[in-house]
Amino acid sequence: MERKLLLSLIRNGGGLLEDVASRVNMSIDQARRAVEWLRSKEMIKIEEKVHHKIEILGEGKRAIEQGLPERRLIEILKRLNGEAKLDELSKAFGSTPQEFSAAFGYARSKGWISTSSIEGKVIVKLLKSDQSALEESLLKEISEKGLFFEELSEEDKKVVNGLIKRPNYLMKKPFKIVNISLTELGRKTAEAIKEVKEIDYLTPDLIISGKWKQHRLRSLDVEAVAPTIYPGKKHPVQHFIDEVREAFISLGFEEILGPIIQPAFWNFDALFVPQDHPARDMQDTFYVSKVKEPSIASSRLIEKVSRTHTNGWNTGSKGWGYDWVLDEAKRLVLRTHTTAVTVKYLADHKVSEAKVFSVDKVFRNEKLDPKHLAELHQIEGIMVGKRVTLRDLMGILSEFYKILGLKKVKFWPTYFPYTEPSLQSIVHVEGFGWMELCGMGIFRPEVTLPLGVKNPVLAWGGGLERIIMARLRIDDIRELYENNLGWLRKVPLCL
Ligand code: PHE
Repeated sequence: MERKLLLSLIRNGGGLLEDVASRVNMSIDQARRAVEWLRSKEMIKIEEKVHHKIEILGEGKRAIEQGLPERRLIEILKRLNGEAKLDELSKAFGSTPQEFSAAFGYARSKGWISTSSIEGKVIVKLLKSDQSALEESLLKEISEKGLFFEELSEEDKKVVNGLIKRPNYLMKKPFKIVNISLTELGRKTAEAIKEVKEIDYLTPDLIISGKWKQHRLRSLDVEAVAPTIYPGKKHPVQHFIDEVREAFISLGFEEILGPIIQPAFWNFDALFVPQDHPARDMQDTFYVSKVKEPSIASSRLIEKVSRTHTNGWNTGSKGWGYDWVLDEAKRLVLRTHTTAVTVKYLADHKVSEAKVFSVDKVFRNEKLDPKHLAELHQIEGIMVGKRVTLRDLMGILSEFYKILGLKKVKFWPTYFPYTEPSLQSIVHVEGFGWMELCGMGIFRPEVTLPLGVKNPVLAWGGGLERIIMARLRIDDIRELYENNLGWLRKVPLCL
């Protein structure tokens, strides 16, 4: 920018900032910045002056169309053959008495008319026939071009000052004028760089053709202070979701999706969660009312699940030993975990081998606090295969965490109604400490056999937000969704 400006100044001379900017095709802001740099290097001089732009107001515009009032007055007088009684003239003029007397006053002081008194009546006479229209033509020029007062001839200045005294004709508005010119140093520098051809941008063409060797490359100060910019970017939660997807996909998993509203059947019953389990309680689950009763599954599957709950059916289990109630399974819930989606996938596809995952929203009837949200995301996955074991499960999770940058993992036994054995995992986050992540296990036969899946199914699921919190060092989960612009701008994309 500085080079461009210098070269233009030596070629075309200095001038107003606006003109110089447009000559080099820069925005005013760009030009201002370049000017500032060049001034600090003492290569240009800046002269600042305040000039006054003349602006036209309502009466002024009217005068352009209809002439000044005194001109309208003498036009009427001409039509009356150059002579009229004062009251007749006033009537013919047809405006307010104030306007008439102003028009009359101006016409008389300009020497366009004279008055005499005959038999007690005032007679008005037209004196000259070629009254100059200086004011009107100046008004017109002002309205078309917008002139600066300081640039007018002395004569025009007088006219403008006269017009400004009339109400609502013209006004003067102060304007800062910046005039730039080269200093001796600037001139010498411009002369020196005129001959040197520098390349600003290295293009593929220049590289391929080898032409870059014949030019000098513009040097860049990579340490120069630059303004902070906040480009548009993904929300950090979405950004992390995409990262989790990448991680799963790089391990050969495929993504599946399922509806947010599920019958309790898929959220609980198919997972062998007893119908009187506390997790089904209103405390934790959002039930959906006023929605048409869904058809939840084939009657054969419902029958198998029902029997499994009651007495274990063919699974080798004793079941829960209660009477399973279909209506309870039909109730709609906002899914409390994405395991509802993976179990439905198993029922629909009856796979003997599969690696699928889901990263999606779940809902829990929680009181909001720094650790809990009612709407959050879960990371869910299953792996089905003839010979998969608990060791594979721990292996794949360790691998998955590693991709996300979480290298230290620990597992220990826990309990879920739908897995046996069941594990819980914690991971270590640098600078944060240990954190609980996924629950996991091997689906019980009470889950898989009614669905028609014979091979073992490794399954895991856990919260997504807490990993982001640990990464971004946030201790209140709600911050993630407050959409505080200041925070969103500054939050780093790469960690
Ligand atoms: N669904 C469990 C939860 O929401 C996690 C889990 C998934 C556990 C799969 C075992 C198997 O915490």
